[in-house]
Amino acid sequence: MKNIDSYTHTRGESIYLDDIPLVQGTLYAAVFGSPVAHGKIKNLDLSAAQSAQGVVRVFTHKDIPGQNQIGGIIHDEKLLAEDEVHYNGMPVAMVVAESQEAAYAAVKMIKIEIDPLPIVTDPREAQQLGLLSVPARTFKLGETASAFSFCKYVIEGIAETNGQEHLYIETQGAYVLPKENGHLFVYSSTQGPTAVQRHMSHVLGLPMHQIEVDVTRLGGGFGGKEDQATPWAIFCALAAFHLKRPVKYSLHRMEDMRMTGKRNPYSSDFKIGLNEDLMIVAYEADYYQNSGAAADLSPAILERTLFHSNNSYFIPNVRTTAYCCKTNLPPNTAFRGFGGPQAMFVIEAAIVKAAEIIGVSPEAIQKKNLLKTGDEFPYGQKAQSEAVPCWEKSEDIYEVEKIKKDIALFNASNILFKKGYSYMPICFGISFTKTLMNQARALVHIYTDGSVVVSTGAVEMGQGVNTKMLQVAAAVFSIDSSRLKINSTNTYRIANTSPSAASATADLNGMAVKIACETILERLKEFVANDFKCNAADVSIEKENVIVRGEKVMPWNELITKCYVNRVSLSEHAHYATPEIHFDGVKEKGHPFAYHVYGTAITIATVDCIRGTYEIDAVKLVHDFGSSMNPIVDKGQIEGGLVQGIGWMTMEEIIYDKEGKLRSGALSTYKVPDIYSVPKDISLHFLETNNDNLAIFRSKAVGEPPLMYGIGTYFALRNAVKAFNPESTIGFSAPMTPEKVLMGLYDRNNVSNKNI
Ligand code: MOS
Repeated sequence: MKNIDSYTHTRGESIYLDDIPLVQGTLYAAVFGSPVAHGKIKNLDLSAAQSAQGVVRVFTHKDIPGQNQIGGIIHDEKLLAEDEVHYNGMPVAMVVAESQEAAYAAVKMIKIEIDPLPIVTDPREAQQLGLLSVPARTFKLGETASAFSFCKYVIEGIAETNGQEHLYIETQGAYVLPKENGHLFVYSSTQGPTAVQRHMSHVLGLPMHQIEVDVTRLGGGFGGKEDQATPWAIFCALAAFHLKRPVKYSLHRMEDMRMTGKRNPYSSDFKIGLNEDLMIVAYEADYYQNSGAAADLSPAILERTLFHSNNSYFIPNVRTTAYCCKTNLPPNTAFRGFGGPQAMFVIEAAIVKAAEIIGVSPEAIQKKNLLKTGDEFPYGQKAQSEAVPCWEKSEDIYEVEKIKKDIALFNASNILFKKGYSYMPICFGISFTKTLMNQARALVHIYTDGSVVVSTGAVEMGQGVNTKMLQVAAAVFSIDSSRLKINSTNTYRIANTSPSAASATADLNGMAVKIACETILERLKEFVANDFKCNAADVSIEKENVIVRGEKVMPWNELITKCYVNRVSLSEHAHYATPEIHFDGVKEKGHPFAYHVYGTAITIATVDCIRGTYEIDAVKLVHDFGSSMNPIVDKGQIEGGLVQGIGWMTMEEIIYDKEGKLRSGALSTYKVPDIYSVPKDISLHFLETNNDNLAIFRSKAVGEPPLMYGIGTYFALRNAVKAFNPESTIGFSAPMTPEKVLMGLYDRNNVSNKNI
């Protein structure tokens, strides 16, 4: 099935938050963010703003009727600052005015005096100072200390990854309409409608049933709207609550970049031990996560870092420790991969460094240590592995030996351009690591004309989940997709939703749709069986026709009408909870994932050795889809994820100065991949695997895993730099910007290189 949104998307007719027709009397909000990153508020002067033209009211924390608290995992985050500010951009006050321009103009008139406090931006410094949002966590398998003593090679090092701006095309925003008797109708660009509802209920002191959150679609989320869509919706609601008028706030791009959190930067130490056969015997890592000024989702992200420490390798002795370091930056948050990519960069860096010191190719180590079925992850789960088939398939279909020979030839005959390649295997666990979140619900109605409407807790954000939901219903009922319609995601239709996140949305909600449709189908069949005096097992629906013992007896429409006339229920609400998964957070052992997704990327890059610029020639992928239920949608996810991962690893560079001020706060200073930075060749092989798994229709999750293929780009570029200057001391610090490439090319610590 084609993406059901493609028709309206290509005509510009799809409705996003900013396209919703405004109700008469709508007001506009704008937030005043702290101009400094840390300090005590001495004085806040709102007088000029309050009397400015068009301003209706200025709000502070004193106007909050419930709790001034929006912390998701731990309660450490205020909606509006009280006595202290903890990051530059932290909301202090909100202006509500008759126009957006008037609101912004009044925000500029707010004066604040702040007594400065020390500003910490570096996670290692925060850890030294004991500034941790949650206690450190350690995962262990085997015994690393004794294992290292048996290793022939022990290599240590540091690996660093920077943050990443989500840069959803649609910025954060919300529009709240007050209805009768305190009921608030909330349009929110959120991945987590229930998170908005729950936190709004705490802040306003309202029961959750007073708050109806409705989401048609997002113009991108990527994790940035899992928790951080919430404050903007509450700001609108707070004003609507007091003023009894509709309130809208759709952030300017630069406000969004300054005030919201990003992917957590990490600085990590690694130690890897190998025996003479290049088997990895032991691995240790310490991860210093820059969580920003509040915990937000960082503790959960940190946990996923620990889960993905080994990437797709089996290592018998592992000890990893992760620190959630509190700094004076905006609270960092979920971003596609959720801490997994950060961990995977570290082990890849460890392997590359080991290979350099030992004098072998990284892929010699990578291939030897790939996970096999039955291998144990450090957290106790046993692998059902496709790591080896993905790797071997890629060697086979992409003629790796020829690639290597061509690159060697190219590098031998070119001085000013060098090529490099890398292998990047991936392994990503599917499920929320917090077991309780792995539940979903769906509501299905069949109308008397035979048309069907499906509601779920899934949020469409460009990933095609709504298309997949309709495919599930169409398959179960065996009816044409033109009969199906998906409803907006609404907390009155579907309650207590988990956010659309963790790559698990299609699985969880799809399973709920499947159960709802199957339940109705059973009722329909029983009705027919009664009518035709046979067993329900003799009845089927195939391609819009009711079949009894091999014979067409009536079309779908007629069946539905008959059922209605005979008072058979044509609606169902179903619940799904992933079976088998569990995790013990004290022992740090369990079976947290429904399954894993595997894949291998081969990346080839060319570096211009005068300019430090580069191009990605090709990324050749073998991806384990299980059995893809929608190859067009899934291919789109793979390509988009890959390019987003390449952006993180190459050009996207978030810069905060020592004062905690964002210096890359606009699209003039923060570069993201455009059409010209897409690899010239992206080859994708769909590896069909038929292991039993808990994916919907065995079509494995595809949201986050492909981002991690982008990590290969870092190492391909690094290898090209090394081809030019073999003694370059270029380390493991992403992103690999052209500036960094240039410095690596002409690194003169060792000047024996004849190219320089
Ligand atoms: Mo996603 S990073 O799990 O919102």
